[in-house]
Amino acid sequence: MKIGLLKEPENEHRVALLPEAVDMLVKLNVELIVEEGAGEKSFSSDADYKEAGASIQSKQEVIKNSDLLLKISPPSEEEQKMFTKGQVVVAVLNPLVNTNLIKDMENSKLTTFSLDTIPRITRAQSMDILSSMATVAGYKAVLEAANQLPGFFPMFMTAAGTIKPSKILILGAGVAGLQAIATARRLGGVVEAFDVRPAVKEEVESLGGKFIEVEGARHEESAGGYAVEQTEDYKQRQQQLVHDHAAKSDVIITTAQIPGKRAPVLVKRETVEAMKPGSVIVDLAASTGGNCELTQNDETVYHKGIRIIGNSNYPSQMPLDASRMFGKNVINFLKLIISEEGKMNLDFEDEIVKGTCITHDGNIINERIKEIINQ
Ligand code: NAI
Repeated sequence: MKIGLLKEPENEHRVALLPEAVDMLVKLNVELIVEEGAGEKSFSSDADYKEAGASIQSKQEVIKNSDLLLKISPPSEEEQKMFTKGQVVVAVLNPLVNTNLIKDMENSKLTTFSLDTIPRITRAQSMDILSSMATVAGYKAVLEAANQLPGFFPMFMTAAGTIKPSKILILGAGVAGLQAIATARRLGGVVEAFDVRPAVKEEVESLGGKFIEVEGARHEESAGGYAVEQTEDYKQRQQQLVHDHAAKSDVIITTAQIPGKRAPVLVKRETVEAMKPGSVIVDLAASTGGNCELTQNDETVYHKGIRIIGNSNYPSQMPLDASRMFGKNVINFLKLIISEEGKMNLDFEDEIVKGTCITHDGNIINERIKEIINQ
Protein backbone atom coordinates (compact mmCIF):
# COMPACT_ATOMS: atom_id res chain seq x y z
CA MET A 1 0.00 0.00 0.00
CA LYS A 2 0.96 3.64 -0.40
CA ILE A 3 1.04 6.25 2.33
CA GLY A 4 0.90 9.94 1.44
CA LEU A 5 2.53 12.44 3.79
CA LEU A 6 0.83 15.85 3.51
CA LYS A 7 2.34 19.26 4.13
CA GLU A 8 1.10 21.15 7.20
CA PRO A 9 -0.45 24.65 7.09
CA GLU A 10 1.78 27.76 7.30
CA ASN A 11 1.66 28.11 11.10
CA GLU A 12 2.57 24.46 11.84
CA HIS A 13 6.29 23.71 11.72
CA ARG A 14 6.12 20.01 12.51
CA VAL A 15 5.69 17.18 10.01
CA ALA A 16 4.02 13.84 10.78
CA LEU A 17 7.06 11.75 9.72
CA LEU A 18 10.73 12.68 9.40
CA PRO A 19 12.89 11.04 6.70
CA GLU A 20 14.40 8.81 9.41
CA ALA A 21 11.01 7.09 9.75
CA VAL A 22 10.83 6.06 6.06
CA ASP A 23 13.00 3.03 6.70
CA MET A 24 10.49 1.70 9.21
CA LEU A 25 7.71 2.02 6.63
CA VAL A 26 9.73 0.08 4.09
CA LYS A 27 9.97 -2.70 6.69
CA LEU A 28 6.18 -2.64 6.79
CA ASN A 29 6.18 -3.10 2.97
CA VAL A 30 4.73 0.35 2.51
CA GLU A 31 5.65 2.98 -0.09
CA LEU A 32 5.83 6.61 1.07
CA ILE A 33 4.85 9.55 -1.14
CA VAL A 34 5.72 12.96 0.32
CA GLU A 35 4.15 16.28 -0.65
CA GLU A 36 6.72 18.78 -1.92
CA GLY A 37 8.23 20.81 0.91
CA ALA A 38 6.40 18.84 3.64
CA GLY A 39 9.46 18.63 5.91
CA GLU A 40 10.99 22.04 5.18
CA LYS A 41 10.09 23.66 8.50
CA SER A 42 11.35 20.66 10.48
CA PHE A 43 14.68 20.90 8.69
CA SER A 44 14.09 17.95 6.35
CA SER A 45 14.39 18.61 2.63
CA ASP A 46 12.69 16.78 -0.25
CA ALA A 47 16.17 15.40 -1.07
CA ASP A 48 16.40 13.91 2.45
CA TYR A 49 13.09 12.09 1.97
CA LYS A 50 14.17 10.90 -1.49
CA GLU A 51 17.43 9.60 -0.16
CA ALA A 52 15.53 7.70 2.52
CA GLY A 53 13.47 5.99 -0.20
CA ALA A 54 10.31 8.13 -0.54
CA SER A 55 9.06 9.84 -3.69
CA ILE A 56 8.09 13.52 -3.89
CA GLN A 57 4.87 14.66 -5.56
CA SER A 58 2.43 17.59 -5.62
CA LYS A 59 -0.45 17.67 -3.12
CA GLN A 60 -2.91 16.61 -5.81
CA GLU A 61 -0.80 13.65 -6.88
CA VAL A 62 -0.09 12.55 -3.32
CA ILE A 63 -3.80 12.44 -2.55
CA LYS A 64 -4.68 10.73 -5.83
CA ASN A 65 -2.00 8.05 -5.51
CA SER A 66 -2.21 7.15 -1.80
CA ASP A 67 -4.34 4.65 0.09
CA LEU A 68 -3.65 6.33 3.42
CA LEU A 69 -3.04 10.04 4.01
CA LEU A 70 -1.05 11.22 6.96
CA LYS A 71 -1.01 14.68 8.48
CA ILE A 72 -0.86 16.37 11.89
CA SER A 73 -3.48 19.11 11.40
CA PRO A 74 -7.01 18.29 10.27
CA PRO A 75 -7.27 18.26 6.45
CA SER A 76 -7.96 21.61 4.78
CA GLU A 77 -11.13 22.14 2.72
CA GLU A 78 -9.01 21.91 -0.43
CA GLU A 79 -7.67 18.52 0.66
CA GLN A 80 -11.07 17.26 1.73
CA LYS A 81 -12.43 17.93 -1.75
CA MET A 82 -9.67 15.78 -3.26
CA PHE A 83 -10.20 12.76 -0.97
CA THR A 84 -12.08 9.81 -2.43
CA LYS A 85 -14.42 7.25 -0.84
CA GLY A 86 -12.61 4.49 1.05
CA GLN A 87 -9.36 6.42 1.54
CA VAL A 88 -7.88 6.33 5.02
CA VAL A 89 -6.94 9.57 6.78
CA VAL A 90 -4.72 9.58 9.88
CA ALA A 91 -4.37 12.98 11.60
CA VAL A 92 -5.12 14.87 14.81
CA LEU A 93 -8.73 15.73 14.10
CA ASN A 94 -9.80 17.04 17.52
CA PRO A 95 -13.19 15.40 16.87
CA LEU A 96 -14.83 16.62 20.10
CA VAL A 97 -14.57 20.14 18.71
CA ASN A 98 -14.50 19.65 14.91
CA THR A 99 -17.87 17.92 14.71
CA ASN A 100 -18.76 19.36 11.27
CA LEU A 101 -15.52 18.03 9.82
CA ILE A 102 -16.33 14.60 11.25
CA LYS A 103 -19.83 14.63 9.74
CA ASP A 104 -18.34 15.56 6.34
CA MET A 105 -15.81 12.75 6.58
CA GLU A 106 -18.54 10.32 7.60
CA ASN A 107 -20.64 11.37 4.60
CA SER A 108 -17.64 11.06 2.26
CA LYS A 109 -17.21 7.44 3.47
CA LEU A 110 -13.60 8.05 4.50
CA THR A 111 -11.96 5.88 7.12
CA THR A 112 -10.54 8.36 9.60
CA PHE A 113 -8.28 7.86 12.60
CA SER A 114 -7.73 10.67 15.06
CA LEU A 115 -4.47 10.24 16.94
CA ASP A 116 -5.70 12.39 19.83
CA THR A 117 -8.30 9.75 20.74
CA ILE A 118 -5.83 6.91 21.30
CA PRO A 119 -6.91 5.44 24.66
CA ARG A 120 -4.52 6.11 27.56
CA ILE A 121 -3.81 2.45 28.26
CA THR A 122 -0.43 0.80 28.81
CA ARG A 123 -0.38 -0.98 25.42
CA ALA A 124 -0.99 2.32 23.61
CA GLN A 125 1.73 4.30 25.38
CA SER A 126 4.12 4.04 22.43
CA MET A 127 1.45 5.61 20.17
CA ASP A 128 0.26 8.35 22.53
CA ILE A 129 0.90 11.58 20.64
CA LEU A 130 -0.87 13.64 23.32
CA SER A 131 1.68 12.54 25.90
CA SER A 132 4.60 13.16 23.54
CA MET A 133 3.38 16.63 22.64
CA ALA A 134 2.50 17.48 26.25
CA THR A 135 6.09 16.56 27.17
CA VAL A 136 7.36 19.09 24.63
CA ALA A 137 4.86 21.72 25.84
CA GLY A 138 5.72 21.28 29.53
CA TYR A 139 9.42 21.73 28.75
CA LYS A 140 8.95 24.71 26.43
CA ALA A 141 6.51 26.46 28.77
CA VAL A 142 9.16 26.60 31.50
CA LEU A 143 11.85 27.83 29.11
CA GLU A 144 9.47 30.53 27.89
CA ALA A 145 8.69 31.59 31.47
CA ALA A 146 12.39 31.65 32.36
CA ASN A 147 13.06 33.77 29.30
CA GLN A 148 10.34 36.30 30.11
CA LEU A 149 10.91 36.49 33.87
CA PRO A 150 12.88 39.59 34.90
CA GLY A 151 14.91 37.50 37.40
CA PHE A 152 16.92 34.27 37.71
CA PHE A 153 15.39 30.83 38.32
CA PRO A 154 18.28 29.49 40.48
CA MET A 155 19.72 30.91 43.63
CA PHE A 156 22.90 32.91 42.99
CA MET A 157 25.60 33.66 45.52
CA THR A 158 27.88 36.18 43.90
CA ALA A 159 30.23 38.99 44.87
CA ALA A 160 27.29 41.26 44.07
CA GLY A 161 25.23 39.56 46.77
CA THR A 162 22.84 36.63 47.08
CA ILE A 163 19.84 36.30 44.79
CA LYS A 164 16.93 34.21 45.99
CA PRO A 165 15.65 31.43 43.68
CA SER A 166 12.34 31.94 41.85
CA LYS A 167 9.19 30.21 43.03
CA ILE A 168 7.34 28.23 40.38
CA LEU A 169 3.79 26.95 40.86
CA ILE A 170 2.62 24.18 38.53
CA LEU A 171 -1.13 23.56 38.36
CA GLY A 172 -2.00 20.09 37.06
CA ALA A 173 0.64 17.39 37.35
CA GLY A 174 -0.16 15.17 34.37
CA VAL A 175 2.27 14.68 31.50
CA ALA A 176 2.91 18.37 30.75
CA GLY A 177 2.91 19.32 34.43
CA LEU A 178 5.44 16.67 35.45
CA GLN A 179 7.74 17.69 32.60
CA ALA A 180 7.36 21.32 33.67
CA ILE A 181 8.29 20.39 37.26
CA ALA A 182 11.39 18.50 36.08
CA THR A 183 12.48 21.35 33.79
CA ALA A 184 11.90 24.08 36.38
CA ARG A 185 13.86 22.08 38.95
CA ARG A 186 16.74 21.57 36.49
CA LEU A 187 16.87 25.34 36.10
CA GLY A 188 17.15 25.68 39.87
CA GLY A 189 13.66 27.02 40.67
CA VAL A 190 11.76 26.17 43.87
CA VAL A 191 8.74 24.21 42.65
CA GLU A 192 5.29 23.61 44.11
CA ALA A 193 2.61 21.62 42.31
CA PHE A 194 -1.09 21.07 42.76
CA ASP A 195 -3.38 18.43 41.22
CA VAL A 196 -6.83 17.05 42.05
CA ARG A 197 -5.37 13.54 41.85
CA PRO A 198 -3.49 12.85 45.12
CA ALA A 199 -1.99 9.79 43.37
CA VAL A 200 0.55 12.08 41.68
CA LYS A 201 1.96 13.33 44.99
CA GLU A 202 4.80 10.79 44.94
CA GLU A 203 5.76 11.61 41.36
CA VAL A 204 5.82 15.34 42.11
CA GLU A 205 8.02 14.75 45.15
CA SER A 206 10.35 12.39 43.29
CA LEU A 207 11.01 15.20 40.80
CA GLY A 208 11.91 17.58 43.61
CA GLY A 209 8.61 19.47 43.78
CA LYS A 210 6.44 20.11 46.84
CA PHE A 211 2.90 18.80 46.52
CA ILE A 212 0.11 21.04 47.81
CA GLU A 213 -3.22 19.40 48.50
CA VAL A 214 -6.91 20.09 48.96
CA GLU A 215 -8.78 17.26 50.71
CA GLY A 216 -11.90 15.66 49.22
CA ALA A 217 -11.32 15.52 45.44
CA ARG A 218 -13.74 13.43 43.32
CA HIS A 219 -12.38 10.55 41.18
CA GLU A 220 -13.94 8.14 38.73
CA GLU A 221 -12.35 4.85 37.77
CA SER A 222 -14.12 5.09 34.39
CA ALA A 223 -12.27 8.33 33.57
CA GLY A 224 -9.23 6.25 32.56
CA GLY A 225 -6.67 8.14 34.62
CA TYR A 226 -8.03 11.55 33.64
CA ALA A 227 -9.53 14.12 36.02
CA VAL A 228 -13.29 14.66 36.47
CA GLU A 229 -15.37 17.75 37.29
CA GLN A 230 -15.15 18.73 41.01
CA THR A 231 -17.85 19.92 43.47
CA GLU A 232 -18.45 23.66 44.06
CA ASP A 233 -17.20 23.39 47.65
CA TYR A 234 -13.98 21.73 46.48
CA LYS A 235 -13.49 24.35 43.76
CA GLN A 236 -13.79 27.18 46.29
CA ARG A 237 -11.26 25.66 48.67
CA GLN A 238 -8.97 24.95 45.73
CA GLN A 239 -9.22 28.53 44.52
CA GLN A 240 -8.25 29.84 47.94
CA LEU A 241 -5.25 27.50 48.08
CA VAL A 242 -4.13 28.46 44.57
CA HIS A 243 -4.61 32.13 45.46
CA ASP A 244 -2.45 31.88 48.58
CA HIS A 245 0.37 30.05 46.78
CA ALA A 246 0.14 32.12 43.58
CA ALA A 247 0.63 35.36 45.49
CA LYS A 248 4.05 34.08 46.57
CA SER A 249 5.05 32.68 43.13
CA ASP A 250 7.09 34.30 40.36
CA VAL A 251 5.88 31.88 37.71
CA ILE A 252 2.73 29.82 37.29
CA ILE A 253 2.48 27.11 34.64
CA THR A 254 -1.07 25.80 34.29
CA THR A 255 -1.81 22.44 32.65
CA ALA A 256 -5.14 21.31 34.14
CA GLN A 257 -7.55 19.66 31.74
CA ILE A 258 -10.70 17.56 31.86
CA PRO A 259 -11.06 15.80 28.50
CA GLY A 260 -14.03 17.00 26.44
CA LYS A 261 -14.79 19.90 28.80
CA ARG A 262 -13.72 23.50 29.11
CA ALA A 263 -10.46 23.75 31.08
CA PRO A 264 -11.14 24.41 34.79
CA VAL A 265 -10.51 28.04 35.81
CA LEU A 266 -7.96 27.86 38.63
CA VAL A 267 -6.42 31.33 38.51
CA LYS A 268 -8.98 34.12 38.88
CA ARG A 269 -8.43 37.79 38.07
CA GLU A 270 -7.95 38.64 41.76
CA THR A 271 -5.29 35.94 42.05
CA VAL A 272 -3.38 37.44 39.12
CA GLU A 273 -3.66 40.84 40.80
CA ALA A 274 -2.21 39.40 44.02
CA MET A 275 0.99 38.36 42.18
CA LYS A 276 4.15 40.48 42.12
CA PRO A 277 4.58 42.72 39.04
CA GLY A 278 6.97 41.04 36.57
CA SER A 279 5.56 37.57 37.32
CA VAL A 280 4.72 35.27 34.41
CA ILE A 281 1.84 32.85 33.84
CA VAL A 282 2.07 30.32 31.01
CA ASP A 283 -1.35 28.77 30.41
CA LEU A 284 -0.97 25.52 28.48
CA ALA A 285 -4.73 24.96 28.50
CA ALA A 286 -5.34 28.13 26.44
CA SER A 287 -6.91 26.28 23.51
CA THR A 288 -9.67 24.85 25.73
CA GLY A 289 -10.51 28.15 27.42
CA GLY A 290 -7.49 28.49 29.72
CA ASN A 291 -6.89 27.78 33.41
CA CYS A 292 -6.47 31.49 34.04
CA GLU A 293 -9.48 33.77 33.78
CA LEU A 294 -7.51 36.36 31.78
CA THR A 295 -5.87 34.03 29.22
CA GLN A 296 -6.44 34.68 25.52
CA ASN A 297 -5.69 31.79 23.18
CA ASP A 298 -2.52 32.31 21.17
CA GLU A 299 -1.96 35.75 22.66
CA THR A 300 0.07 37.31 25.44
CA VAL A 301 -1.94 39.51 27.79
CA TYR A 302 -0.38 42.03 30.21
CA HIS A 303 -2.43 42.67 33.32
CA LYS A 304 -1.13 45.02 35.99
CA GLY A 305 2.49 44.02 35.34
CA ILE A 306 1.77 40.28 35.01
CA ARG A 307 2.42 38.58 31.68
CA ILE A 308 -0.11 35.83 30.79
CA ILE A 309 1.02 33.71 27.85
CA GLY A 310 -1.54 31.55 26.04
CA ASN A 311 0.52 29.84 23.31
CA SER A 312 -1.40 26.71 22.34
CA ASN A 313 1.16 25.12 20.04
CA TYR A 314 4.56 24.87 21.70
CA PRO A 315 5.40 21.63 19.88
CA SER A 316 5.51 23.62 16.63
CA GLN A 317 8.29 25.74 18.17
CA MET A 318 10.44 22.64 18.64
CA PRO A 319 9.68 21.01 15.28
CA LEU A 320 12.60 18.61 15.01
CA ASP A 321 12.24 16.58 18.19
CA ALA A 322 8.47 17.10 18.29
CA SER A 323 8.22 15.60 14.75
CA ARG A 324 10.60 12.83 15.76
CA MET A 325 8.40 11.85 18.72
CA PHE A 326 5.20 12.28 16.72
CA GLY A 327 6.62 10.11 13.90
CA LYS A 328 7.60 7.29 16.30
CA ASN A 329 4.07 7.32 17.73
CA VAL A 330 2.60 7.25 14.22
CA ILE A 331 4.74 4.30 13.11
CA ASN A 332 3.73 2.33 16.21
CA PHE A 333 0.09 3.09 15.43
CA LEU A 334 0.45 2.14 11.74
CA LYS A 335 1.91 -1.23 12.78
CA LEU A 336 -1.44 -1.89 14.39
CA ILE A 337 -3.53 -1.21 11.28
CA ILE A 338 -1.17 -2.49 8.56
CA SER A 339 -0.43 -6.21 8.12
CA GLU A 340 3.06 -7.67 7.59
CA GLU A 341 2.25 -7.87 3.87
CA GLY A 342 1.71 -4.12 3.83
CA LYS A 343 -2.11 -4.22 3.55
CA MET A 344 -4.77 -2.41 5.63
CA ASN A 345 -5.81 -4.67 8.47
CA LEU A 346 -8.54 -3.13 10.62
CA ASP A 347 -9.47 -5.14 13.69
CA PHE A 348 -12.37 -3.28 15.30
CA GLU A 349 -12.27 -5.72 18.23
CA ASP A 350 -9.00 -4.07 19.20
CA GLU A 351 -9.63 -1.38 21.80
CA ILE A 352 -7.00 0.96 20.33
CA VAL A 353 -8.26 0.66 16.74
CA LYS A 354 -11.88 1.10 17.85
CA GLY A 355 -11.07 4.04 20.12
CA THR A 356 -8.99 5.85 17.50
CA CYS A 357 -11.21 5.21 14.47
CA ILE A 358 -13.67 8.08 14.08
CA THR A 359 -15.46 7.21 10.82
CA HIS A 360 -15.55 4.10 8.67
CA ASP A 361 -17.77 3.13 5.77
CA GLY A 362 -20.27 5.93 6.40
CA ASN A 363 -20.54 5.33 10.17
CA ILE A 364 -19.07 6.91 13.27
CA ILE A 365 -17.09 4.26 15.14
CA ASN A 366 -15.74 5.99 18.28
CA GLU A 367 -18.56 5.66 20.87
CA ARG A 368 -17.90 8.98 22.64
CA ILE A 369 -17.85 10.97 19.38
CA LYS A 370 -20.99 9.15 18.21
CA GLU A 371 -22.80 10.21 21.40
CA ILE A 372 -21.69 13.84 21.05
CA ILE A 373 -22.56 14.11 17.36
CA ASN A 374 -25.97 12.45 17.80
CA GLN A 375 -26.88 14.66 20.79
P1 NAI B 1 -3.08 15.32 31.55
O1 NAI B 1 -4.49 14.88 31.49
O2 NAI B 1 -1.99 14.30 31.54
O3 NAI B 1 -2.84 16.27 32.81
C1 NAI B 1 -3.75 17.20 33.23
C2 NAI B 1 -3.69 17.20 34.72
O4 NAI B 1 -4.57 18.22 35.21
C3 NAI B 1 -4.17 15.89 35.34
O5 NAI B 1 -3.17 15.39 36.20
C4 NAI B 1 -5.42 16.28 36.10
O6 NAI B 1 -5.64 15.52 37.28
C5 NAI B 1 -5.15 17.73 36.40
N1 NAI B 1 -6.34 18.50 36.72
C6 NAI B 1 -7.59 18.44 36.16
N2 NAI B 1 -8.42 19.29 36.76
C7 NAI B 1 -7.71 19.92 37.72
C8 NAI B 1 -8.02 20.91 38.67
N3 NAI B 1 -9.23 21.41 38.77
N4 NAI B 1 -7.04 21.32 39.49
C9 NAI B 1 -5.79 20.81 39.41
N5 NAI B 1 -5.43 19.85 38.53
C10 NAI B 1 -6.38 19.42 37.69
O7 NAI B 1 -2.88 16.35 30.34
P2 NAI B 1 -1.52 16.72 29.62
O8 NAI B 1 -1.31 15.77 28.52
O9 NAI B 1 -0.48 16.96 30.62
O10 NAI B 1 -1.93 18.12 28.99
C11 NAI B 1 -2.12 19.25 29.83
C12 NAI B 1 -2.64 20.43 29.05
O11 NAI B 1 -1.66 20.88 28.14
C13 NAI B 1 -3.90 20.16 28.25
O12 NAI B 1 -4.79 21.23 28.38
C14 NAI B 1 -3.39 20.06 26.84
O13 NAI B 1 -4.36 20.40 25.88
C15 NAI B 1 -2.29 21.09 26.90
N6 NAI B 1 -1.29 21.02 25.86
C16 NAI B 1 -0.85 22.24 25.45
C17 NAI B 1 0.09 22.34 24.48
C18 NAI B 1 0.56 23.70 24.11
O14 NAI B 1 1.44 23.81 23.26
N7 NAI B 1 0.03 24.75 24.70
C19 NAI B 1 0.62 21.14 23.80
C20 NAI B 1 0.17 19.90 24.38
C21 NAI B 1 -0.79 19.87 25.38
